[in-house]
Amino acid sequence: MKDKLIIFDTTLRDGEQSPGASMTKEEKVRIARQLEKMKVDVIEAGFPAASPGDFDAVSAVAGAVKESTVCGLARAIENDIRKAGEALKPARLSRIHTFIATSPIHMERKLRMAPEQVLEQAVKAVKWAGEYTDNIEFSPEDAGRSDLDFLCRILEAVIHAGATTLNIPDTVGYSMPEQYGALIRNLRERIPNSDRVIFSVHCHNDLGLAVANSLSAVMNGARQVECTINGLGERAGNAALEEIVMAVRTRQDFFQCDTGIDATQIVQASRLVSGITGFAVQPNKAIVGINAFAHESGIHQDGILKSRETYEIMRAEDVGWSANKLVLGKHSGRNAFRTRLSELGIELSEEALNAAFARFKDLADKKHEIFDEDIQAIASDEAVVSAPEHYRLLFLKVCSETGETPLATVKILDGKFEREGKAEGSGPVDAAFRAIESIAQSESELQLYSVNNITSGTDAQGEVTVRLQKEGRIVNGQGADTDIVVASAKAYIGALNRLRSGLERLNPQL
Ligand code: KIV
Ligand code: ZN
Repeated sequence: MKDKLIIFDTTLRDGEQSPGASMTKEEKVRIARQLEKMKVDVIEAGFPAASPGDFDAVSAVAGAVKESTVCGLARAIENDIRKAGEALKPARLSRIHTFIATSPIHMERKLRMAPEQVLEQAVKAVKWAGEYTDNIEFSPEDAGRSDLDFLCRILEAVIHAGATTLNIPDTVGYSMPEQYGALIRNLRERIPNSDRVIFSVHCHNDLGLAVANSLSAVMNGARQVECTINGLGERAGNAALEEIVMAVRTRQDFFQCDTGIDATQIVQASRLVSGITGFAVQPNKAIVGINAFAHESGIHQDGILKSRETYEIMRAEDVGWSANKLVLGKHSGRNAFRTRLSELGIELSEEALNAAFARFKDLADKKHEIFDEDIQAIASDEAVVSAPEHYRLLFLKVCSETGETPLATVKILDGKFEREGKAEGSGPVDAAFRAIESIAQSESELQLYSVNNITSGTDAQGEVTVRLQKEGRIVNGQGADTDIVVASAKAYIGALNRLRSGLERLNPQL
């Protein structure tokens, strides 16, 4: 019998700390439900003391999720811990995760506390958390740069105070795999009663080593990995859940443990997170990138046709890809569309289903072959429209010709009024954005513009992400269409709607 590797997802907390990735309460609940469906063991839903919005979101997730444990983050401060305890009250299974920095640089320059004070505060924090739950996680922040002897002392003390999971964060992504694995081994060997707790790892990807470090820790006895969908997270992100899960599953010859994750839900989770945050997944991203299972070279294709295992170590369908199956066409009806959505595990409200079906018909007119990926893109677009739709694209015409300046004409519903704008630009997309701005006058700054193809071929839908910044608020918008200028205009308008709605929180984390 192999050990269980606990999957702790922190997309809704550390993932949300990515600039521009902040989510509304409803969006968090939607993602949490997908994580629960995927059988994630622990969902870190947020940082309740950070803001009333975060408190509400953690409470809402706690009320919505029944199978996974819902966790709230708290600094080692009484008020934070009480807020987390209160926010988690609706949860069937709850955990409080408290942390304090232990590296010399953090203790001296950030906390301005002596190591003994830090130790004392950590013990108090675990005891306060114990008033709410007996499922308590403690993290010595910046453990990767902390002194081993001090780590051993503080961790021994928090076990004694009631901590049940000890999480060892490589907060700044500085560790090397061998070193980090050895750290976990040393802590397990040196701390009295270490066999009574679960050792957890939380790695950041600043040097691109988050997954490697996490797996090295697992090889050395860690039995919980903290990770995020698509590797979303502070700065360069956290270890990607999909990579951890599939590495452990694919190399069962190597690992002494396995997860309980339903991997067939991975692609859906990836799409949902990408749709909600507006963070596109790079095409060559392991497991969830559009090219992750595509074989381009003739030699590879020939090998695959003769025997799949020649070039494939995993099956695309095992992580939720549908093998680019042609599923529906122009003549498919609403029922067939609804059935395919439910086969893909997507549930939409009646209103969203109607809107999605109309978009599907529209797409089927332009594109002969509709794949599951197209349907998923349409559905996640409809499912994530959470900002009230103040602006809506009604019409777009762009004239673009070699040697001429592109000119865009756009008609937009602006509240109740139909308005028209015209503008020139350095390219068709630039002209379209300027035409929209001539109406909206948002005075926002474009921070990111990216285009990805959803399926292959020149008739594929382009999925555009636009990120706007105004007065410290950062919002994303996404749009998909076979015409990338239209997709761009939709994405821009989506971002404007979010900017206007005020749904984004300025500082989701403290
Ligand atoms: O990276 C980090 O140290 C964290 C802690 C709060 C666990 O996110
Ligand atoms: Zn972190």
